[in-house]
Amino acid sequence: MSTLSLADKRLTRILAVDPAKLGTFSFLERATSPLEDWHLTLRRDTQDATNLKEAAELLRTSVIPVAFPTETVYGLGADATRSAAVQGIYKAKQRPLDNPLIVHVCSLRQLRGLLQPVVGKDDPINGQPNGQAVSNGSHVNGDVPSDTIPSIYHDLIQRFWPGPLTILLRNPTPSALAPEVTAGLPTFGARMPKNLFALALIKTANVPLAAPSANASTKPSPTTAQHVQHDLDGRIQVILDGGSCDVGVESTVVDGLCVPPAILRPGGVTLEQLRQCKGWEDVVIGYKDSAQLESKPKAPGMKYKHYSPSATVILHEAGSSLPSLQDVRARASNGESIGVIRTRHWLPGLGLSPAISSAVGDTASSTTMRTVEIGDDPGMIVMHDIYIGPGAAAIARGLFSALREFDLRGVAAIFVEGIGPTDGVQCAESNIHHPHNTDDGAAAVMNRLRKAAAVRVV
Ligand code: TXA
Ligand code: MG
Repeated sequence: MSTLSLADKRLTRILAVDPAKLGTFSFLERATSPLEDWHLTLRRDTQDATNLKEAAELLRTSVIPVAFPTETVYGLGADATRSAAVQGIYKAKQRPLDNPLIVHVCSLRQLRGLLQPVVGKDDPINGQPNGQAVSNGSHVNGDVPSDTIPSIYHDLIQRFWPGPLTILLRNPTPSALAPEVTAGLPTFGARMPKNLFALALIKTANVPLAAPSANASTKPSPTTAQHVQHDLDGRIQVILDGGSCDVGVESTVVDGLCVPPAILRPGGVTLEQLRQCKGWEDVVIGYKDSAQLESKPKAPGMKYKHYSPSATVILHEAGSSLPSLQDVRARASNGESIGVIRTRHWLPGLGLSPAISSAVGDTASSTTMRTVEIGDDPGMIVMHDIYIGPGAAAIARGLFSALREFDLRGVAAIFVEGIGPTDGVQCAESNIHHPHNTDDGAAAVMNRLRKAAAVRVV
């Protein structure tokens, strides 16, 4: 794993962007669906459009990635067709090289281009250029047949794109994608983000963007430009600031190439929503996030430590009892602080402090942090309390931010109130388990929390 030397240190700028000030978005008259393709005419008189153009130019020419907002979390983007640019992502994030990246596209036309073998590009398998007419390895936006996206994905794409859903597709040979994108796998993950700025950036750069979440590897994903700056300051040149992300957890990753189709990572699109789609009625869960399941992970990235703040995370699964004063004291010495993230049922201040109970009172829907001291000196502990519940969508939106907030405060431990329902029933023979319960988004939240937690209380 490479580390950055002082000579590599870069000035990181945060550039504000407001999609409303970028220009005019229009659809092509002959297009059968708005997803197919579209146009953007950039304004000449706004700083936002200038910022977009600068970022797009960097993406086209530089080997240093650019951070940009999506509806899920901030991404760290690079031209997915250039090896040196994609390597820049792994370097900035300190990400293990065997964890593949998601390719972000702005239209189905662009995606179809990626599904075609590239004429004129060296075939890494046969070691020969495979084509007659050399096209520079870049017909990424060219006209190609319209049926190359497997039919299993058609309904999904119509319902959830643009949006928080990543689909696995076969990577052609030779591929337009840099090999570092797929980390040696025969497939690649693709998604069309639902954020006008992200779409405009891809369109203007005119290349597909490989983009993982823009956090330092192992840290919680960033949902604001400030989170990105905290992790990657000095490692990248530009962070585009589009405000807080709407969804707050990453996209759902699905594999429709296997039978039955599987969810490889729970995310912004829920199991219930997937099951309503044609061909996805029997979708199975192909990820593991519970300590009891020990088999090999299907999505390569899922085996790493993830989403972890510096403080110890103590996750109380839904239905387990509230931490007691004794539990709190076991995690923090005299004068230290702890964080509490409440969702649905926990009392303000864990019910340990009358002060916080009265301070929060009926305004429990606020995500404001309240701080109280519990116990007397000696033995006094500072408790920071954040309420992010009760809906799964609100919890997803506030979760990573709350974990990061507590890290900034230097807490010794973070107690988190988990939410139900559970993800399903485990199948005896494999790590696939069949979903029986409903999922309103709780699965994505609990997946992230189980990975972040050093201790789980069940
Ligand atoms: O919402 C998101 O998906 C965000 C934003 C920036 O778009 N991106 C994101 O990327 O979360 P990342 O790199 O943090 O997570 C990508 C996930 C990993 O779990 C990875 O293993 C999986 O997608 N993945 C990517 N390509 C894959 C492939 N070919 N086969 C299996 N899993 C793949
Ligand atoms: Mg990530």
